Amino acid sequence: MRSQLSEISNGTNGFDPRRDRRVIELPRTAALLDAHTRMRDHTASRENFVTHSRRVFRALLEAAVCELPFESIDVRTPPGHTFRGVRPTCSVCAVAVVRAGESIESEVWSILPGARIGKILIQRDRATSQPHLYYSHLPPRIGDGHVLLLEPMLATGGSLLTALDVLRAAGVTDDRVVVVNVLASPSGLRRVVERHPDLRIVTSSIEESLDINNFMIPGIGDFGDRYFGTDGHPR
Ligand code: PRP
Repeated sequence: MRSQLSEISNGTNGFDPRRDRRVIELPRTAALLDAHTRMRDHTASRENFVTHSRRVFRALLEAAVCELPFESIDVRTPPGHTFRGVRPTCSVCAVAVVRAGESIESEVWSILPGARIGKILIQRDRATSQPHLYYSHLPPRIGDGHVLLLEPMLATGGSLLTALDVLRAAGVTDDRVVVVNVLASPSGLRRVVERHPDLRIVTSSIEESLDINNFMIPGIGDFGDRYFGTDGHPR
């Protein structure tokens, strides 16, 4: 039964996330690979895991901001010259898929100081991999602006789809959502973009596939447990 489920959830049906304009994978620079290598190593201390995760979050958020609409603006520099710059044309808030998505919040504030942050608490059932929605609390009039949806792990895609249902019910259209993601499976990406064709997903790694327990390969383990120190390892 479990392997059947995995076969079904691994189906990509010809979908190639690297050729899909809605999926933006960060360039595999040496710096990004270095951060991934340190995070993915099973001997990594929690301190190192957090430190190198934050490097990746920063790169993801800078790329996600590029997906927002901008307008031109001139500013005067201290020597009195004109610099032709840009500024976002819309309000931006973040929504964290709790628990793992909360890890990205502090980095949001380093790029967008004071940004409003909503929460959607979803937990994936350990036996069935099905997501359960427990709670949500979003900023008022969230549909008026753009949303950075913080979800580090996209395995079957079930949790992200549940979060997107919550945003849609709150009046947020998909074209105003940019997902900020660390690892994504090809089959999970396919499931999500099929149901949300106007969405954009910025990820730092498209993984190979899912294992029979619906964990990603090569993967990183349970991101929330490793980041928050609840994985039972006293590292
Ligand atoms: C993990 C992860 C994602 C979800 C991804 O959450 O943080 O939210 O699973 O899996 P999916 O794409 O198959 O739905 P989990 O429910 O384990 O909670 P956590 O954030 O507390 O670790």
